[in-house]
Amino acid sequence: MRTETEHTIYLKDYAPSPYRIVSVDLDFKIQADNTRVRALLTVEPRETTAPGTPLVLDGDELHLSSVAIDGAPLALAAYAADANGLTIVEPPLRRFVLETEVLLQPEGNTKLMGLYRSSGTWCTQCEPEGFRRITYYLDRPDNLAVFKVRMTAPLDLAPVLLANGNLIDKGDAGDGMHYAVWEDPFPKPAYLFALVAGDLGSITDNFTTASGRKVDLAIYCTHGKESQCLWAMDSLKRSMAWDERRFGREYDLDIFNIVAVSDFNFGAMENKGLNIFNDRLVFAEPETATDGNYDGIERVIAHEYFHNWTGNRVTCRDWFQLCLKEGLTVYRDQEFTSDERSRAVKRISDVVTLRSAQFPEDGGPLAHPPRPDQYREINNFYTTTVYEKGAEIVRMLATLLGTDGFRKGTDLYFERHDGQATTIEAFLAAFSDANDVNLDQFKAWYLQAGTPHLSVDQHYDADKQTYTLKLKQQTLPTPGQPTKQDLVLPIKFGLIGPNGSPMSWSGVSGAQVRDDLIVFNGAEAEVTFTGIPSRPVPSLLREFSAPVVLETGLSQEDQLFLARHDSDPFNRWQALQDVGMALAVDAIGGKPWRDEAVAALSQAMSDTLGNSELDDAYKALAVTLPDEQMIGRAIGSNIDPQKIHEGRRDLLKAVFAPLAEQLRKTYEGLTSTVPYSPDAASTGRRALRNRALGLLVGSGVAGASELAAQQYSTASNMTDRLAALSVLATYGTVEAPALLADFRTRFGGDPLVLDKWLSVTASVPRDGVIEDMKAILADPSFPKTNPNRLRSLVGTFAMGNPTQFMRADGAGFRFVAEFVTEVDKINPQVAARVLTGFRIWPMLESGRRDAAKAVLAGLQAGGTLSRNTADILTRMLAS
Ligand code: TRP
Ligand code: ZN
Repeated sequence: MRTETEHTIYLKDYAPSPYRIVSVDLDFKIQADNTRVRALLTVEPRETTAPGTPLVLDGDELHLSSVAIDGAPLALAAYAADANGLTIVEPPLRRFVLETEVLLQPEGNTKLMGLYRSSGTWCTQCEPEGFRRITYYLDRPDNLAVFKVRMTAPLDLAPVLLANGNLIDKGDAGDGMHYAVWEDPFPKPAYLFALVAGDLGSITDNFTTASGRKVDLAIYCTHGKESQCLWAMDSLKRSMAWDERRFGREYDLDIFNIVAVSDFNFGAMENKGLNIFNDRLVFAEPETATDGNYDGIERVIAHEYFHNWTGNRVTCRDWFQLCLKEGLTVYRDQEFTSDERSRAVKRISDVVTLRSAQFPEDGGPLAHPPRPDQYREINNFYTTTVYEKGAEIVRMLATLLGTDGFRKGTDLYFERHDGQATTIEAFLAAFSDANDVNLDQFKAWYLQAGTPHLSVDQHYDADKQTYTLKLKQQTLPTPGQPTKQDLVLPIKFGLIGPNGSPMSWSGVSGAQVRDDLIVFNGAEAEVTFTGIPSRPVPSLLREFSAPVVLETGLSQEDQLFLARHDSDPFNRWQALQDVGMALAVDAIGGKPWRDEAVAALSQAMSDTLGNSELDDAYKALAVTLPDEQMIGRAIGSNIDPQKIHEGRRDLLKAVFAPLAEQLRKTYEGLTSTVPYSPDAASTGRRALRNRALGLLVGSGVAGASELAAQQYSTASNMTDRLAALSVLATYGTVEAPALLADFRTRFGGDPLVLDKWLSVTASVPRDGVIEDMKAILADPSFPKTNPNRLRSLVGTFAMGNPTQFMRADGAGFRFVAEFVTEVDKINPQVAARVLTGFRIWPMLESGRRDAAKAVLAGLQAGGTLSRNTADILTRMLAS
């Protein structure tokens, strides 16, 4: 394998470019089998630029046909074009216009970066470094320029021509061609450029902003899918209104377009005024989309829309600052969902995601800070650490500063940096200046990798009537960061008295405590409360107010007391999780559980199910045991996935089989005949009903699989149908094979539903799954260029089928490695992402660890890999 250490980019080397591109005039001539791009770049040297400083433009897989300055073609010696770009040896030391022409082959672009074709439609993806695959450019986010785009295309193949900003001209171009000219008045980095040309249908609507601007909205899609775009449009309008209410942010152009495409590397992209979406995050109708899909659409539509302020109006200086836009925008979309639906349910789901995806990343060989200081391949840093941990950091700021203080901070941030490319430092400075607080220590959250462990011991002194919490924090070393600094941990808390109601105190000393918040920022601290009449039960880290692993040492009795009485719904849920986790870890570690302990959890689950004050969505989450991955992390080392799988199933049976009657009643009581609606209450009802069904089947209750099979056949929506199918497939009941086959024929023609079938097939935790997947991939009609199909099958397998992926005989590892080798030649981003499934390998028991290591080493020895895949592989093997 090539080692590409010479390619490492360091934050400390950041320097502004000696030249700036201030305006861009692009002319695309789109034809059936190639596209010509002429670019006029208005370039200015900086005042400090010395004469003779070359202009170095990025370029990737471009074919240069001509290059000129101010209209005069350049002599051969005046420039050099190579695999990385175009160098103008001695440009004029004044404003000039560089003119280049390149020939592109979007038809053969399977990397899906730059200009490519998806089901015939021409579309672009430029973040982070795709624009250099369209024309030679200063492809870095700190170069802001205004763009004008003219596109000419065959009228029959591409009646719709879109780009950023406003349409300023269009017309006939002769010979069956037509043209459109778009202009974007807002200066932007090249990664926000977008263009779409295709034969598309659309739906339209409009939104009037708070200041009275009427914005025309449109969603473009494959003909025939228009009615499936209505939920996305509804989500967009609610997002626009919410951003005005919560953040005072209005939309700024007269038009906002969204385009759905089938081949897309990520979820969606926030290009100015022209968001491009993976169609799985646009299309929804009850028969083919699940509640989860509706939820995802609402969330991602909001996320991309919110980028208009956090990302576009205020952008990143360099890619090290990625979480400046992503962490903040994820925080904003989380808050949107919380306000639109249920705050507690949203928080619990986000914490589950954080723990099952980000914590493992942070505790494994790919750990990196939310703001990294070096990278070899920036595409590998669009991670759950940058996105989700980045959002947690913003959430902690909001907790520390309070609602008003936080809003003052964002207001100042927008006011100061509108139209700029900026940094994490500037972001924090806005909050500290607006609130007159020092955030120097807080900043370490951005610079440090690893999940902190927070341990809390308690002591009650009956004589003195004092209650003391002893706090300790520790973050273990991560690759490249052997020593760690103490972090600022905002710990929301409450004390609960024996009768279940909140207990107050007459005084408090020690760490900084305000009302319901302890701000803990040292290695150790003691907080002593006075005037405490009896031993309270502490409820710590309410709302999961910091992304840490909390160890309280509370007894099962105290935990179940919290599960019953805590006024914080998050911690009530957490308490049940902790009890389940402790039982699972003990049993898997060879310490059989005490029957009373299981019975107590069973009783608490039963009480939760029967509690009429809790909503259905919340109950569905509460009666869920920690998943296998989370149990694995809690065990921490020498993991045997098969043991975890079996131990968890045994526990599930022991806890829920005694509740069979209640679960069945719950299931029946939630049966509904009203038409499908994606609102929070209906979604919650289906979630709880399907959870009850899953627990019945999982506990092996007589008649449960027949009930699931019946639900599959009679379901009137995809949520219920897929839930039944996947529980039957997961537990391998006799009904499963026929129903899987039925699903395939029933929906095989709809690629997004085929993805659901692929995912269910790939997650079956039993022998034979690898052979099934091989057969699917060997079918010549399987589209190996489509990221959704590939990820639904092999991505799901590597991330969501622990027992088969991590088989003791190594067959799962080998299968994924072969897949990565093959797909790396087609789409390196997809290959690199699937490969990250191996990141757990150092924590496995020795047999599996050796098997994984041998497969990774083989991959490394095997030959030339893309920079994307080589980077992941090298980091994974370094540990
Ligand atoms: N900026 C996009 C978002 O989070 C994600 C993104 C990054 C992306 N790189 C991409 C999308 C490549 C598609 C392809 O909203
Ligand atoms: Zn984003």
